[in-house]
Amino acid sequence: MKIIDGRKRADEILAGLKKEIKDKNLRPGLGIILVGAEPSSCLYVKVKETAAKKIGVRVRKQILSGRAPESEILEVIESFNRDAQIDGILVQLPLPKEIPTDKIIRSIEPNKDVDGFLPESRFDSPFIAAIWQALKVSGENLKGKKILALVKSDIFGQRLTGFLSRKGLCCDYTICQKPQDCPAALKIADIVITALGQPGFINAAMVNDGAVLIDGGTTRQGDKTIGDIDAESVSRKAKWLAPSPGGVGPITVALLLRNVVLACPLGAGRKRAAGVK
Ligand code: GUN
Repeated sequence: MKIIDGRKRADEILAGLKKEIKDKNLRPGLGIILVGAEPSSCLYVKVKETAAKKIGVRVRKQILSGRAPESEILEVIESFNRDAQIDGILVQLPLPKEIPTDKIIRSIEPNKDVDGFLPESRFDSPFIAAIWQALKVSGENLKGKKILALVKSDIFGQRLTGFLSRKGLCCDYTICQKPQDCPAALKIADIVITALGQPGFINAAMVNDGAVLIDGGTTRQGDKTIGDIDAESVSRKAKWLAPSPGGVGPITVALLLRNVVLACPLGAGRKRAAGVK
């Protein structure tokens, strides 16, 4: 089994962005909102912030209490929406249960929705685009292949469907939200994408010989991240694995920042008007 090295691909994307920011003298800004202190969310925000700063994306971070009311979160988003120095807004999910996530996401100015959450967003979801990039790293010819995506969330399933159909890969893909209901499809899939949050759920007996496996699952256990796919087990059977950690995750961060850089010229007029240097 060969490993799809997501860190290497991410580093290439980040190096390209750093150069673009320098060459075009861009001033991209990312506004991050973190509600509460859930350890995984804190870690993901730190990773995104560090990568942003490394390539020259300015970061404005607002950390709110886990008991912050909806109105306080909306106020921060509104101030980021108006802020000419902020090109992209990231609300780290999940939000506390009492907060209506949909309403919060809908309050983000679509031109700044660098997470691609809104249906009208001009940006691809970094996570879905990262899965695509991981497949591209494998160099496999995807035409006519059977793709099975095992996903937990509705939104992710819908976005993935939209993405695959736009890419003209609509020939043969299945989105399955209950993996226990689709073992037969899993066994014959050429390409398996997972975003389940079920650590080590997929093993060698469940997959096709020579399958390409893209693990988008991340579950924190103590200070470790564990993917949906048991890497050791599938190593005897799969052709490629994008492991978790080290596969889709780092590429997702790099593509989030690519969206911020893409959003930057959209805000150029705004910046001029506000006298931003
Ligand atoms: N939490 C887990 N994944 C993501 C992501 O891609 N974006 C945001 N905003 N929060 C997340």
